[in-house]
Amino acid sequence: MVVRVPSLSHWVHRIGSAIDTDTPSSFFVLVSVRLGGCGACVVLLSKYDPATDEVTDFSASSCLTLLGSINYCSVTTTEGLGNAKDGYHSIQKRIAGFHASQCGFCTPGMCMSLFSSLVNADKDASRPEPPKGFSKITVSDAEKAIVGNLCRCTGYRPLVDACKSFAADVDLEDLGLNTFWKKGNKDDSARNLPNYSTGDVCTFPEFLKSEVKSSVSTSHSHKPETIEYGWYRPKSIEHLHILLNSESFSTGNVKLVVGNTSSGVYKDQDLYDKYIDLRGIPELSIIKRTNDGVEFGSGVTISRAIEVLREEKVSTLVLKKIADHLNKVASPFVRNIASVGGNLMLAQRKQFESDIATILLAAGSKISVLEGLERVTLTLEEFLERPPCADRTILMSIFFPSWASYNNILFETYRASPRPLGNAVSYVNSAFLAQTLMDEETGDVVVENIQLAFGAFGTEHAIRARKVEDFLKGKIVTSSVILEAIRFLKEGIVPKNSTSHAEYRVSLAVGFLFKFLSPLPKGLSEPGKIVHVELQNGQSHMESKNSDDIPIASRQEILLNSEYSPVGEPIKKAGAELQASGEAVYVDDIPTPKDCLHGAFIYSSKPLAYVKEINFKSSMASTKVISLITAKDIPKGGENVGFVWYFGAEPIFADSLAEYAGQPLGLVIAETQKYANLAAKQAVIEYSTDNLEPPILSVEDAIERNSFFQIPPMFYPKQIGDFSKGMAEADQKIESGEVKLASQYYFYMEPQTVLAVPDEDNCMTVYAASQWPEGAQAHVAKALGIPFHNVRVITRRAGGSFGAKAFRAMPVITACAVAAHKLRRPVKVYLDRQTDMVMIGGRHPTKANYTVGFKSDGKITSLHLDLRLNAGISEDVSPLMPPAIIGAMNKYNWGNLSFELKVCKTNNTSKSAMRAPGDVQGSFIAEAIVEHVASVLSLDTNAVRRKNLHDHESLKVFFQESAGEASTYTLPTLFDRLASTPSYEARAKMVKHFNFENKWKKRGISCVPITYKVRTKQSPGKVSVLNDGSIVVEVGGIEIGQGLWTKVKQMAAFGLKELVEGSEDLLEKVRVVQADSFSLIQGGLTGGSTTSESSCAAVQLACNTLVERLKPLKDKMKEEKGVVPWTALIGQASAQGVNLSASSLYVPEPTTFGYINYGAAISEVEIDLLTGATTILRSDLAYDCGKSLNPAVDLGQVCYLQFFLYMQTNIVALKV
Ligand SMILES: Cc1cc2nc3c(=O)[nH]c(=O)nc-3n(C[C@H](O)[C@H](O)[C@H](O)COP(=O)(O)OP(=O)(O)OC[C@H]3O[C@@H](n4cnc5c(N)ncnc54)[C@H](O)[C@@H]3O)c2cc1C
Ligand code: FES
Repeated sequence: MVVRVPSLSHWVHRIGSAIDTDTPSSFFVLVSVRLGGCGACVVLLSKYDPATDEVTDFSASSCLTLLGSINYCSVTTTEGLGNAKDGYHSIQKRIAGFHASQCGFCTPGMCMSLFSSLVNADKDASRPEPPKGFSKITVSDAEKAIVGNLCRCTGYRPLVDACKSFAADVDLEDLGLNTFWKKGNKDDSARNLPNYSTGDVCTFPEFLKSEVKSSVSTSHSHKPETIEYGWYRPKSIEHLHILLNSESFSTGNVKLVVGNTSSGVYKDQDLYDKYIDLRGIPELSIIKRTNDGVEFGSGVTISRAIEVLREEKVSTLVLKKIADHLNKVASPFVRNIASVGGNLMLAQRKQFESDIATILLAAGSKISVLEGLERVTLTLEEFLERPPCADRTILMSIFFPSWASYNNILFETYRASPRPLGNAVSYVNSAFLAQTLMDEETGDVVVENIQLAFGAFGTEHAIRARKVEDFLKGKIVTSSVILEAIRFLKEGIVPKNSTSHAEYRVSLAVGFLFKFLSPLPKGLSEPGKIVHVELQNGQSHMESKNSDDIPIASRQEILLNSEYSPVGEPIKKAGAELQASGEAVYVDDIPTPKDCLHGAFIYSSKPLAYVKEINFKSSMASTKVISLITAKDIPKGGENVGFVWYFGAEPIFADSLAEYAGQPLGLVIAETQKYANLAAKQAVIEYSTDNLEPPILSVEDAIERNSFFQIPPMFYPKQIGDFSKGMAEADQKIESGEVKLASQYYFYMEPQTVLAVPDEDNCMTVYAASQWPEGAQAHVAKALGIPFHNVRVITRRAGGSFGAKAFRAMPVITACAVAAHKLRRPVKVYLDRQTDMVMIGGRHPTKANYTVGFKSDGKITSLHLDLRLNAGISEDVSPLMPPAIIGAMNKYNWGNLSFELKVCKTNNTSKSAMRAPGDVQGSFIAEAIVEHVASVLSLDTNAVRRKNLHDHESLKVFFQESAGEASTYTLPTLFDRLASTPSYEARAKMVKHFNFENKWKKRGISCVPITYKVRTKQSPGKVSVLNDGSIVVEVGGIEIGQGLWTKVKQMAAFGLKELVEGSEDLLEKVRVVQADSFSLIQGGLTGGSTTSESSCAAVQLACNTLVERLKPLKDKMKEEKGVVPWTALIGQASAQGVNLSASSLYVPEPTTFGYINYGAAISEVEIDLLTGATTILRSDLAYDCGKSLNPAVDLGQVCYLQFFLYMQTNIVALKV
């Protein structure tokens, strides 16, 4: 395939090896989630126009980009910006220095989105020249530079700081903790930032320009351009017709594409053998500006359309608002390649919840289509109402009316989606255009004409609300007219059956119409307008009219401690630049071994059914199936055990009975991952439910059917006091409170990934993205029926895990190993996002019913809880969850506490540990109860919280030995530091004022305390000093983004400090390396928030051994020579046969009962009552982490957003 991306030069980095060049549909399959929705695979694409000699640079999602479509483009990946060999780019250095990378899986995409923003800002001649070292980008642009790039661990604060550090108008003092300057040293800040200079990376090489020029001069052929491998690029509509009518196109799977981004929305179901790239047809790229509006060829990208609609010479209110709305569609890296026409075709053919169709419908757009040889002009409404277009109907152009010649035009667009910006399809979108007349005398507004469009509410396509329009035409807008209009609207907005959140969608539609009409009548409170609140003492608060416009600002305060330096210092994360430059190797980046095959799971779509047969449809993808691995392929002596732990086991593959939807039935094996994924979709599974009971799907079903797992008595938490006695002391009681919490999907950026390579003598080497290599070794050995020493598991790092890469990874790893064992070839499995979400489970859904008694002053005297957990099909860690939930609830002194705990076995995926498992649910339930009590008593909730915090005596009752010394119980201090201050009181007052003044937006402020009990655990370590004095450290813990390697590095440098002199620092000599189950045994499981400290403890022990061995020699050398450089010491030690490698196993004292972490947080939030949109205006968090091993790393671990999202999702389910 002649693709003029200079694939061997430095302009294509990393993706080179991942390009799937065997197929016509060659994708850039970089590390990515492969839906275009995460941004991990963003690259910079550059195109050269020889006519103008201009290069256009734009970010693009490589997982959606077809290789054929980037012919003659230059591709810059993050390795192209900088790398370990050539030196890192300032973007990479600043991301590292601002502590903005944890697991690092998302970081290359972050770098490239930022780079694209910088490159384009710097090209803009209208912007002022920036000071040296800065870009022309502004702070406000920089805050949006990474819109659409998801990060699941770091949180966006440090990332935004890194982006803003390039902005010419930034106040560097406003940026957060970093390694470039110390807070307060303003003068140092700019000087110490890694230098950025415009144009330091060439995005389009000269040789490629020459090639583009010569390709233009030689391409006068009238034939369609065929690049090879089934990629066709017609140069005119005639060429397209020739192609479509040719014989070779009458067979096979043909796909017409522009940006191909629809494959992120509707996954391909089969392989295509021919692609027709419509972007070579000039008619589809036209942009015609007239007085009446702009006509866009259907292939014009959304980004280009936005640019044109914002041009001063064409922009009108309507076109500007359309541009603003288009700016909320998907993310920049999707909009830059996605076409307007492609979007409308999806709306027309596939009932896609398009924003563009809805807003253009209200604006009265027309479109032009080609049906056969006939060109037809239709209104957009006619187009949408037609039956789905034939495959060969071509959308030619779309006309965007400007309404420039009309007076008194009102036009607004609205959308509500899970996220306001970036890759979240709307729950409802709408746009309204009205022509109005104002009666000068009365001030009444009359609607002359109106067009109301609604989409995405569970409708086949966007619709006009004709009945409402007819009703409003000619009417003076009054509140009663609006009410009547809303009544008509509710009749027309009827979501299809099975639409999720149907009621919410209807209420959104009503809210949008109300927002549009309410400014028109006299005397009605406008929902869009926020009344500014100012305190009498002049302290003002959130002056902004729109809370979305509040600039992002942050500040961190840490207590530094140099006692154990370099332990305790906020050094940057080990390998952060490697992660930013894309060189960090995750399992999928390991070069595929020779003859490697790939696997994709087939899973049950039924919760409970016999699997009678698995066949494959007759399709192109089915021809790629090499093998189907099932339970029958477990080797003799092996066991069909995908996961086994203290409480129970589950199989790798269902044998004949599938017990939950998502249960693996088999692994399809093919030559590439893409073939395997598509082949798995061709499976036709014959089920039977004969003689089976209905499945148990909820805790209610489980209770009815008595389906439970047991909690072993040793794990059963302790009840406190006497519930009845406590109730008798209460002044008031609540007897039927209920809290219901849903599950939460893990959504690590790197899906479950494993590579199994058969080795000599019946051995297997497994590279796994795992939190538990030791467990993987045992599980693979069991599945294959071989001794543990035949299985070597290697894990370098994981791209996020959040608990799922411990137990839930085991069935994936064992299935892959079984396939490799059977086929005697390496097999790799990289779950696609959908399979990962369906199969892997998540947090435990939890239901709590409570009875609580309390005094009139808010002191709770007694609580009884009925706790039901949905554990799914197998035990996993589920019996440990109720104690964890109760443990978290014990942050409050309930007086007397009793409970009944049930762990329900259901026909769902097995739920497992997910980040702070049980603690999150427990904290939520506790807060719901306290809120309930406060609302019954009409008391301030924070006052009730404070009243129920433990004193040290009650803490000891609830936490026994873990309560520690009274001096370590800092929760009340933390709480008071945040919530018992004049500034908090002032803010709470302002919130009250705000709520009094504003009808449609409300604010709330709240302070929540937290306790989190942890326990250190057994962990091994090994420290080896090589002959040149460099140090290799191995630990049992896995680097999953939590900064374990960084702390371990610091600890190794500290542990050997006694052996160095003066200013000699060993930190940079230490390398922490991958976990290898043959090199270090008893590695254990990374989890429970203490692996870093346990690993550090092990390293310290190993260092102590080395110090013991080397200290006498050092003292002797010192006596002889005075100064003893480290390398001299090691050289001498090696020559004298001192063992320079020490292993250790840290085992906590049996008397260690764990300890409690304390924290508190205040959040001030605003909610739009009409849409439910929530904005966090400000959060203050205080965390007592004792003496931090590395405060920068620990700050990053305050994983605020992941929990906030869980809480927010579950608020709707809260029923008190
Ligand atoms: C992560 C993500 C988030 C998104 N979020 C939103 C959102 O919030 N709101 C929204 O409205 N949209 C959203 N989209 C949809 C996006 O706008 C569309 O995928 C895109 O516009 C399609 O354009 P394309 O050029 O990539 O089309 P392609 O994928 O190339 O084509 C789409 C379909 O249209 C056909 N087609 C394309 N052009 C023509 C033509 N001229 N004539 C006939 N058939 C044609 C193709 O054959 C194909 O079937 C999102 C997409 C992604 C991936
Ligand atoms: S660092 Fe962003 S997802 Fe892990």
